[in-house]
Amino acid sequence: MTDAPPINLFDYEALAEAKIPPVLWDYLVDGAGDGITLTENRRAFERIVLRPRTLVDVSRIDLSTSLLGAPVRSPIMIAPCGPQGELCPEGDCATAEAAGRTGMLMVASGGASRAIADIAAAATGPLWMQLYHYGDRPRTEAIVRRAEAAGCLALALTVDSPRFGRKERSLRTEDEYDWPELANYAGLPAPTAPSIRGAPVTWADLDWLRTITSLPIVLKGILTAEDAELAAVRGVPGIVVSNHGGRQLDGVLASVDALPEVVEAAAGSCEIYLDGGVRRGTDVLKAVALGARAVLIGRPVLWGLAVNGADGVFDVLTLLRRELTDAMALTGRPTLADVDGSLIAFSKLRHSRA
Ligand code: FNR
Repeated sequence: MTDAPPINLFDYEALAEAKIPPVLWDYLVDGAGDGITLTENRRAFERIVLRPRTLVDVSRIDLSTSLLGAPVRSPIMIAPCGPQGELCPEGDCATAEAAGRTGMLMVASGGASRAIADIAAAATGPLWMQLYHYGDRPRTEAIVRRAEAAGCLALALTVDSPRFGRKERSLRTEDEYDWPELANYAGLPAPTAPSIRGAPVTWADLDWLRTITSLPIVLKGILTAEDAELAAVRGVPGIVVSNHGGRQLDGVLASVDALPEVVEAAAGSCEIYLDGGVRRGTDVLKAVALGARAVLIGRPVLWGLAVNGADGVFDVLTLLRRELTDAMALTGRPTLADVDGSLIAFSKLRHSRA
């Protein structure tokens, strides 16, 4: 790379790789197993092609929408990823500050480097908190109380991690790294459940969780119509279609390939979001056309953070938003309400940056 400023998210990836220690890099980019799902998350977007309309007045493009009622300036959210303090000193607080500057919603990780109260203090935009249920209700309840006290607008319960995926690059090197304690769990009693490497959670736990808080609870990590139907029956307000960025079970389908069946099964009962492999404005557009209300981005935010702290995250988000604006103009869709399934075709086109 030259010293030219980054012009897309892949430029940030290259800059971040050059900057951060290899052990940490392995952890960030890793997928589970052979990385099939990790690769497929990108390939699936590449197989979708757009059917642009012409002769439309696109002099004004409006990206604004709302997420569970909170107004946001674009359908791009920040996925929960921890621990960000390893990438820049202000960690998750820098990300919160950048999200606020762009008018985007951040989902803070339960495994954040900074406590949710500190992240909330840095945030000027809407904030949700992601939660793992480690099979231990008292600990989960304590985290929920911290999220409530911090003013989070919703909880995102991660449901795809009853055991943590085997990320083999990081398994080989994790002992070389001194991983920090999780700030949100500071001062809590030790877990009562037997210690396993995962966050086992069931529908019964969700039912219980709903009795202890009035915050909306979004499910993160649904990939099938069957689970979407069960969520809809319970009145779940939001679903994140996600395979955890390919970090849990290798060989599951790409999240954008799972999106249509989840959208159909939820049948308008809740908001549907998507994450996994979103790197281009056109990816955001494709997901919205297939029924997502918004997307979340994970690793690119970490690259921005590593390269230039809050300003790096701001730039990553701004680049993506600019690409989305261009894509909407070039497909003749001036508002998100104009983006629908007629925009989409599937192709045998084979193109890959890899
Ligand atoms: C994650 N992800 C994640 N998810 C979650 O629910 N809680 C968490 O603490 C984390 N932590 C985490 C750390 C790192 C380093 C990565 C890369 C990912 C998953 C994340 O929220 C999201 O689902 C994916 O990262 C989305 O895919 P992309 O955008 O990274 O391709």
